[in-house]
Amino acid sequence: MSADLVIVANRLPVDRVEQPDGTPGWRTSPGGLVTAIEPVMRANDGTWIGWPGGTDAGLEPFEADGMKLVPMSMTQAEIEGHYEGFSNGTLWPLYHDLVAKPEFHREWWDAYVGVNRRFAEKAAELASEGATVWVHDYQMQLVPQMLRELRPDLRIGFYLHIPFPPAELFQQLPWRRQLLEGLLGADMIGFQLPGGAQNFVRLVRQRVGHKTHRDLVYLPDGRTVRAAPFPISIDAAGFESMARSEPVARRAEEIRTALGNPRKVFLGIDRLDYTKGIYARLRAFSELIADGHLDVEDAVFVQVAVPSREQVEQYRILRDEIDRLVGRINGDLGRIGRPAISYLHSSYPREEMAALYRAADVMVVTPYRDGMNLVAKEYVACRFEDTGALVLSEFAGAADELRQAWLVNPYDINGMKSALLEAYRADDKETRRRMKAMRKTVTQHDVAAWADAFMNDLAEVPGSHGKAVRPAKRS
Ligand code: G6P
Repeated sequence: MSADLVIVANRLPVDRVEQPDGTPGWRTSPGGLVTAIEPVMRANDGTWIGWPGGTDAGLEPFEADGMKLVPMSMTQAEIEGHYEGFSNGTLWPLYHDLVAKPEFHREWWDAYVGVNRRFAEKAAELASEGATVWVHDYQMQLVPQMLRELRPDLRIGFYLHIPFPPAELFQQLPWRRQLLEGLLGADMIGFQLPGGAQNFVRLVRQRVGHKTHRDLVYLPDGRTVRAAPFPISIDAAGFESMARSEPVARRAEEIRTALGNPRKVFLGIDRLDYTKGIYARLRAFSELIADGHLDVEDAVFVQVAVPSREQVEQYRILRDEIDRLVGRINGDLGRIGRPAISYLHSSYPREEMAALYRAADVMVVTPYRDGMNLVAKEYVACRFEDTGALVLSEFAGAADELRQAWLVNPYDINGMKSALLEAYRADDKETRRRMKAMRKTVTQHDVAAWADAFMNDLAEVPGSHGKAVRPAKRS
């Protein structure tokens, strides 16, 4: 097997599931990454390398939905050290502005290096001469350099789906230099926002001592690396047509009926993650009821929390906290058949999400820090009648584009209360004006445009800069 395009990501685009007859099968993962990359994969007959979840060893490459997939198994020790440990116990909180305290453990780092090496070796084995390899996200930051050493003929792109932190925070990492050098193995590094790209270039200049100019880094070996923003998006047309469909319309009606046909439905949909600000948002909503600004006969908050990283301690603590908070709010403020919060700890297929988006009058997205937040864009894509209000954190990448949302600081509970109330009370003319503008943005900048921009720019990074530059600093 030899491929002109290889995608390297921690996860495969399909999850391993048990079928009704008990045999194992595969289901397309719902995430945005899959819809984003699928068209590029098909156009280039690409191959995708990733972990299928679990510890199954010896899984053979296979095809799903016409995509060639190569499963990489992980041992229990690798899951604990690489995935739960360094990726989600160290990098995730550090890159999200220390919303939780990152832990630094040398054995986690060793596991991270080991898994990155295995993925790099697999990509080196599968890529054809001069092929393009596109590496994704924080779990794989060493792959570009490892791969370049094995295969200098390749064109390598890297895209970071989460924020890239300011130098002051990144500096805490005992392995900061290795991560920067790992990324510099790529020809181009994509970030969600300009700020992330700037943070990276500044760190490379200060910490590694390479010469930089605007978004370019000049390496002593003659290579140029470009660091630039490519804000990710969604399949807007796909979401819209799903939202318009008859079954989704019917399901949205059913949902509203099941909720007792309140005047307005508030909605939150998040992975159950401490970066998402779920606790603060539910508190803000409940205080509006306790203060008498909202009544449970008129308003209900549907919160979907998708189970995530359940073996990681911080996530278990969060789950207990949210369980307790929801119990207390409903106990204190609910009436028979009228809970203030309808809480669902589960994941749902895309059609059900579209029905929820259709059923919701006020979408509430309040992360403390988020690379982009595709839920905000999905909601907008589904509101084809230009109705509905979006309350959005300033600290989500999406806030850069969705300026017409009710923007909030999630640390400011009173500010959030006012925004929720304003969005609830806003008249049709106002919501329509805002939604129309946001829909224009989301429809024009869809995921196909994102992938095209990345691939075209990656192809254009000059191979050699021809400048005389100093060797890198030693640290
Ligand atoms: C974020 C990350 C992805 C990750 C996803 C789900 O969106 O950017 O890389 O795959 O969360 O998290 P999980 O740990 O289940 O892969």
